[in-house]
Amino acid sequence: MKTANRIRAAFAALAFGAALALTPASAQAPVNPTASAVKEEQLLKELDRVTGRVSIPDRKAGVVIQPEGREFRALQTRAMPWVAIVAIFGMLALIAAFYLYRGRIMIDSGKSGMTIKRFGGFDRVVHWTTAVSFLTLAATGLNTAFGRSLLLPLMGEHAFAAWAEFAKMVHNYVAFAFMAGIVAMFVMWVKDNIFQMIDMEWIRSFGGLFSHQHPPSSRFNFGEKWMFWSIIFLGAAISATGLMLLFPFQWAGIQGMQWATLIHGVVGVVFFAAILAHIYIGTLGMEGAFDAMGSGRVDVNWAKEHHSVWAEEELRKQTPQPADGRLAAPAE
Ligand code: HEM
Repeated sequence: MKTANRIRAAFAALAFGAALALTPASAQAPVNPTASAVKEEQLLKELDRVTGRVSIPDRKAGVVIQPEGREFRALQTRAMPWVAIVAIFGMLALIAAFYLYRGRIMIDSGKSGMTIKRFGGFDRVVHWTTAVSFLTLAATGLNTAFGRSLLLPLMGEHAFAAWAEFAKMVHNYVAFAFMAGIVAMFVMWVKDNIFQMIDMEWIRSFGGLFSHQHPPSSRFNFGEKWMFWSIIFLGAAISATGLMLLFPFQWAGIQGMQWATLIHGVVGVVFFAAILAHIYIGTLGMEGAFDAMGSGRVDVNWAKEHHSVWAEEELRKQTPQPADGRLAAPAE
């Protein structure tokens, strides 16, 4: 071989060697991408989550991937708004339909002008503390869940950030007043909310809501008892999950925290929807009902129509007073 040809061959060999050295290892070995993807999926399935090892005390920092997180995020962002829309607007539609059908439930025999005591001062303070704190929690909680989509575009970033931070603080602290209220209501009213045989008559006629009858009832009728126990159980569930969110990872791991977040949200909207019905019947829906929690005294005819057994017992113990506040004239 001529010298020039030899030099050319040596350069070609060098160039080939250099190209080989610069090619990534993955490109050199025969690759089966499908097989590695299958392995990765298997790994995810088998390990449940991909965890590394950490030496710091916070062991959950070693969780690199948690596949359930994706399902949790989908439920949070896609399903939750629908749960809220169906529960809240569904309840408003039911209330509106009932109002159109039945109108305001009036005292059939008219007001007597005489009242008896239904709730004392302490009962009313507890009720209104719980009611105001619940409504505050509902407003600030709905803001946490949906404010970003609904209010942020209207308020702008700065105003929304300030409001959202304030709302979160309020939510965290007011929760304690609400929890105390739920415990106090349970202690004060549980004995009058235990199921009795007389409630069967209320159930049979569905409280006379559609038939205009007045089934007999003791201090609380079956509808109120149902509401009371809903408030107690929903209140317990929302308080327990709320405490888990207030003190993260104290009582649960990553999955537990995700469940607590979901349950807190769902119970919150169902609770709010139930309370809408309670507020309706305690105000617009029934003549004379609000007075029970307002002044604490109710018209005697209201008591006889809606709580006949309780009214009879109370009329044996209490002397009715005129509604205008003047004391009954002493008998001569
Ligand atoms: C603006 C809001 C509210 C209004 C107007 C309202 C009105 C009333 C009225 C008038 C009563 C007396 C019913 C009767 O005499 O039989 C009552 C009872 C009651 N309320 Fe409310 N309420 C409100 C909010 C709340 C909230 C947020 C809760 C709880 C989360 C609540 C829980 C209760 C309970 C447990 C009772 C006693 C019923 C029973 O034990 O069966 N209320 N409410």
